[in-house]
Amino acid sequence: MPKVTIDGIEIEVPDGTTILNAARMIGGKIVPPAMCYYSKLKTTGGYCRTCLVKVVQGSAKDPRPMPKLMVSCSTTVQDGMVVQNITSPEVMEARRGVVEFLLINHPLDCPICDQAGECKLQDLGYEHGLQKTRYEFPRRTFEKEDIGDKIKLHMTRCILCYRCVKVAEQLTPKRVHGVMNRGDVAEISTYIKNSIDNDFSGNMIDVCPVGALTDKTFRFQSRVWYVKPMDAHRDCKKCSGKVVVWMKDEEILRVTARMDKNNEVEEFICNECRFEKKDPADWVIEKPTHIDRHSVIAQNHYEDEKQLQLGKFTDPKMIPKAEPKLKK
Ligand code: SF4
Ligand code: FES
Repeated sequence: MPKVTIDGIEIEVPDGTTILNAARMIGGKIVPPAMCYYSKLKTTGGYCRTCLVKVVQGSAKDPRPMPKLMVSCSTTVQDGMVVQNITSPEVMEARRGVVEFLLINHPLDCPICDQAGECKLQDLGYEHGLQKTRYEFPRRTFEKEDIGDKIKLHMTRCILCYRCVKVAEQLTPKRVHGVMNRGDVAEISTYIKNSIDNDFSGNMIDVCPVGALTDKTFRFQSRVWYVKPMDAHRDCKKCSGKVVVWMKDEEILRVTARMDKNNEVEEFICNECRFEKKDPADWVIEKPTHIDRHSVIAQNHYEDEKQLQLGKFTDPKMIPKAEPKLKK
């Protein structure tokens, strides 16, 4: 099994592992951001360039550095490879450039966007973005479109990562859509509307890294940091029925798939679970969904509060001294 060193940390990985997945095995800050790669979907990656890294040693056999920065999501690890991500000023500079490009057309409408608080571009912009844009030309804009009765496409926010195209391509029976045109006139084709008939089309919303595809049953109902995500399940004939229900008091405002530590869907869920089951009686509520403490959603400490409500504290030290303020 090849060994690779990323930002000074060595790891042994199975043959064929990409640099990005090797970094994910190590975890933490050295993991490059990925806006288009999605491990649960085939042929993703290679579109956004946010995952660029520097290969300072190609392999033990051929220690020459790779001449350009490499896309870590599609570059396979070689034995003895040495990679720099956050330790390379060149990579950081390139990432700033990529973010600047992504933000040329993407509107900074986070205050009114439903994806705010969960948006990967918002995080990237916060870490690497410029305070001002240098772009002087008109931004491209599109009319909002209804992709069926449950999904809203706001193409102006799209960064053309192709993830939704892969979802529709790989989870629907026929390919009926795609990205039309190329360059600055590229856009998600309206043929994507046809794929809404499929039971799994709602997964496009979960894989979209920005607010271009949003759930019409949840749009403008609440900011995500005011709702409390809870792991829940139900018997479903179409999917595993394992979801996250986002609750405000006792009301379910939206249903999404569960995410893994890389913020990717664990199991794709069906449209019935996602859009039709908003009654708490439809679900067995298990426990608060664990949210990374760096996320704005974790800031209201709902996890401790809900654990207490569900009587699941096993360690008495975890029980807060003051009575938690629970809304009725
Ligand atoms: S709509 Fe979202 S998922 Fe689809 S290509 Fe655009 S950014 Fe990617
Ligand atoms: S994640 Fe590698 S190019 Fe987009």
